[in-house]
Amino acid sequence: MSGTVVNLPTQLADGLPLTVDVSAHPRSDDERAAILASPGFGSHFSDHMVLVKWDVQNGWHDAKIQAYQPFSLDPANAILHYAQSIFEGLKAYRQDDGTLASFRPEANAARFAKSARRLAMPPFPEDAFVAACDALVTIDSAWVPEGGEMSYYLRPFMFASESFLGVRPSNEYYFCVIGSPAAGYFSDGVQAVSVYASEDYVRAAPGGTGEAKCGGNYAASLLAQQQAADEGCDQVVWLDAIERKYVEEMGGMNLFFVYGKDPDNVEIVTPDLTGTLLPGITRESLLAAAGELGIRATERKISLAEWRDGVASGDISESFACGTAAVITPVGSVKARTGNFDISTEMGPVTAKLRQLLLGVQHGTTPDTHNWIHKIG
Ligand code: PLP
Ligand code: COI
Repeated sequence: MSGTVVNLPTQLADGLPLTVDVSAHPRSDDERAAILASPGFGSHFSDHMVLVKWDVQNGWHDAKIQAYQPFSLDPANAILHYAQSIFEGLKAYRQDDGTLASFRPEANAARFAKSARRLAMPPFPEDAFVAACDALVTIDSAWVPEGGEMSYYLRPFMFASESFLGVRPSNEYYFCVIGSPAAGYFSDGVQAVSVYASEDYVRAAPGGTGEAKCGGNYAASLLAQQQAADEGCDQVVWLDAIERKYVEEMGGMNLFFVYGKDPDNVEIVTPDLTGTLLPGITRESLLAAAGELGIRATERKISLAEWRDGVASGDISESFACGTAAVITPVGSVKARTGNFDISTEMGPVTAKLRQLLLGVQHGTTPDTHNWIHKIG
């Protein structure tokens, strides 16, 4: 198919031509409409995917858009054994005027390149990352749902693809982008979530891979996440590896604490980036945008004890989690071996204001003063 029919580029970057092989079996309009009516999160995928190969001889090459389809993997493929894999998560939104846009894809491209370096993988060119996401949104634009909480979640990822059992960086990789229409991450909508502070396990230690978005971090988190679920909680909260005292982040989100109740004197505090937590793009966006709402924003260490005491004294009036998938979700209660505490079952006013600002910018209804919106098409 000619790339011009749906405004697809002929290359993802200089020297990386894109070929397009349109799916012969796209879902029907009715099938797609049924999925878009209730997409959930991460269960349904649009008709196409982007695939690019890398090897030592050719670098990045053979970029194509093709029908969404399974991989065929040799049992000795390094990814199955040594987990050399990284991923990103970002969203495209249907704007109120019907056009399509994504939120800060350049920031995801930069973080992806950084994750690649940490995992001894070849960084994917940042301009090609953005172009690959745009190309998938363009060809599968009918899969981008409309509405305030709805989006099309893009999942770029890269993995080792060489069949070799020696332990060293692979000599072959795949870069891939798939996309999924998405409603909220939590099935209860924006109800406050309950969290379990993990005092038995750690997610990341200094010098480890905590600030990289690599699959292994998530594999290592699952037992604690299961423990949280067994305790009746939605998410795990990670503490620092050395003192087991300071709050770092959640399973797939960063954390913020709201200090103060007086609307003219409110501060939001988030754990500082020590190298062991993911530098969330939502986190950074909130730190940058808070001032527009007259809210002071601070990055610093905060211990579980300070969180508990702050809630008890009323100094901390709200707590919330933030991330691409979760947007902004209030934290309602905390369980820990050292003592449980409740924050609120409702979303607080500061959380609500920040959530409205973020969603407004993402959907094109609030002025984009930071140039975060990336128009597609
Ligand atoms: N922390 C972890 C462990 C995550 O998986 C995510 C999600 O990407 C975040 C934080 C939030 O990052 P972002 O706001 O870039 O989505
Ligand atoms: C995201 O918000 O993009 C995440 O990666 C969180 C989770 C789905 C892994």
